[in-house]
Amino acid sequence: MMMPAITVSELEKSFKKNAVLRGVDFTVEKGTIFALLGSNGAGKTTIINILTTLIKADAGNATVGGFDVTKSPNKVRQHISLTGQFAAVDDILTARENLELIGDLRHVSNSTQTAVDLLQKFNLTDAADRRVTTFSGGMRRRLDIAMSLIGSPSIVFLDEPTNGLDPEARNEMWQTVRTLAKNGTTVFLTTQYLDEADELADTIAVLHHGKIIANGTVSELKQLVPSGLVRFTFHDEKQLATAVEALEHDFSITEKHDLTLTVETGGNTTKIAEVFIRLRDAKLEPTDFSQQIPTLDDVFFKLTSNKTEEK
Ligand SMILES: Nc1ncnc2c1ncn2[C@@H]1O[C@H](COP(=O)(O)OP(=O)(O)O)[C@@H](O)[C@H]1O
Ligand SMILES: [Mg+2]
Repeated sequence: MMMPAITVSELEKSFKKNAVLRGVDFTVEKGTIFALLGSNGAGKTTIINILTTLIKADAGNATVGGFDVTKSPNKVRQHISLTGQFAAVDDILTARENLELIGDLRHVSNSTQTAVDLLQKFNLTDAADRRVTTFSGGMRRRLDIAMSLIGSPSIVFLDEPTNGLDPEARNEMWQTVRTLAKNGTTVFLTTQYLDEADELADTIAVLHHGKIIANGTVSELKQLVPSGLVRFTFHDEKQLATAVEALEHDFSITEKHDLTLTVETGGNTTKIAEVFIRLRDAKLEPTDFSQQIPTLDDVFFKLTSNKTEEK
């Protein structure tokens, strides 16, 4: 059996009275992209800090690259790289100089060639000899990741890699992350953005109130919310009320606000047809209708609203 890239069990961490992690468990398989999803202050960076040996957990176990983070922090460090929310890039140096400097510090055999290769890979060749002060946010972030890849770490930690980037830079970052995973690197990333997790991750874990409240592939998570929702918009309140009357006996109405109505059909065409027939029989003409594809936002909303009382 192949050892997972990362294992975390019953991890706990408090800052004074603030219990940030209250028994966190998850596993990340080798060569996959794992997204840790959570709102601001959920404890994502705290988990990254524990896994990258920057701070110690109060309780629980974690292994990275097969090594225990508390017992063998040096071994762990040899297998990982960390790109923080705050880029470790030196502004006064050029992109090339930054890369060569890190290459020398990490004793790679040919830091000049390594820098050339990474500049190419991260689309920075044209800007290679410019000082980093002149770089856009996206370019800095790319350089930061390029620097973190020197020495070929097998596991890369990216803490909110697209935070503050414009849409174009964000897309480039996604491409970079995909390329990393395609080459066999395990990517652990944190994000507040559901669409980012949806776009990139093989597996997603949702951190909420100190625990992982859901963990699975995007499609597994989406199965937690009803599918086959059809939304209708009506001309006025009266029509909306008539529609509710025509449908509520046999269909589950999941949402009703303004002049819209959302009906659960399970995606079954016969059932969908039946909804339309009922509306026609009631002499209703919706001004608009659409099928609602469940998004991770729906999942997140459902999960976090269920769990709020459990504090
Ligand atoms: N060194 C620290 N000292 C005290 N509190 C901290 C420290 N680091 C993080 N926290 C607190 O822990 C909680 C989680 O923080 P963090 O892990 O940074 O969340 P996230 O990365 O998900 O936004 C926050 O309430 C934060 O204020
Ligand atoms: Mg953070």
